[in-house]
Amino acid sequence: MKRIYFNEVVTRDGFQNEPEFVDTDAKIALVDELSQCGFAKIEVTSFTSAKAIPMLRDADEVMHRIQRVPGVEYTVLVPNVRGADRALACRADELNLVMSTSETHNLANLRMPRERSFAGLRDVISIVSGQRPVNVSLSTCFGCPMEGDVPQSEVLAWAERFAELGVRGLTICDTTGMAHPAQVATLCTNLRERFAGLQLTLHFHNTRGMGLANVLAAVQSGIDRFDGSLGGLGGCPYAPGASGNITSEDAIYMLQSMGYETGIDTARLLAVARRLPEVVRHAVPGQLAKAGRITDLHPAPPSVAELKEMFL
Ligand code: COA
Ligand code: ZN
Repeated sequence: MKRIYFNEVVTRDGFQNEPEFVDTDAKIALVDELSQCGFAKIEVTSFTSAKAIPMLRDADEVMHRIQRVPGVEYTVLVPNVRGADRALACRADELNLVMSTSETHNLANLRMPRERSFAGLRDVISIVSGQRPVNVSLSTCFGCPMEGDVPQSEVLAWAERFAELGVRGLTICDTTGMAHPAQVATLCTNLRERFAGLQLTLHFHNTRGMGLANVLAAVQSGIDRFDGSLGGLGGCPYAPGASGNITSEDAIYMLQSMGYETGIDTARLLAVARRLPEVVRHAVPGQLAKAGRITDLHPAPPSVAELKEMFL
């Protein structure tokens, strides 16, 4: 049975786009509950500027107070050397560096051109090298909401530059849900051919309703790692029109139903997902938590018993 690895990003990608501050204790409680569900990895927070992402200004405290469960990797998003120092001080298991493949989105999100981001991230990699594994998340790989098309050659070229620096993995992000399954299949096939030795993760947003179709296209192209967000929260505050990630529990349930092994305790995950609207104080997009699993049957109306007696 094929194993698929999930990275839960609700407390980072999910929360960074929320209008109301989620208090520190609630963030820690949520990470602790997610730690019991069987995720391979949890992206706990980001070590960015508190002005850029005020929601995650408590990153250091959250990282210090969560309970680490053996077997779960606790990763954090890092945009620069300052963020890397903070991440190392908090004993993050992995540093997830970020830059965009679109110049315009990089300027909007990180306030610098791509080449400057790359130079800064190269410094981070040389500082961290040998201490912690490094993953690089490349944003807007399937299109930029301000520039439009991002050629696949551009994505492959940035991937190549980071591969040469010895990163452990690359996350290919569809930051504003512009990908479609045929495009996903082509890029995933090319990435797997070129970077067979790297951990390749796909990060989809469901902005245009194609999230699960894109997951399926990626799995069928040999990808076995995905980011997902509980309840389908998420989005980049610096990408116009951004909305939620693929919903972890929906994607996990789809793959489990198809016979893939995810290591996730779905009943436990659903219980956590059902408490999420209380944490963020609004309804969330995820569908499985509302509908229940296919095996969660409903009682038939009383008239059915009478009809059964009459006809059967
Ligand atoms: N952690 C904490 N604070 C940081 C920081 C970090 N990693 N990097 C910079 N800062 C602080 C600086 O100390 C400075 O604070 P001050 O104004 O109180 O002196 C302020 O942030 C600006 O620093 P500067 O180096 O001039 O950065 P900038 O304004 O060019 O912003 C980034 C660059 C990358 C720090 C900022 O754009 C950022 O954090 N972006 C994150 C975006 C993000 O996470 N998007 C969603 C995920 S894809
Ligand atoms: Zn995202």
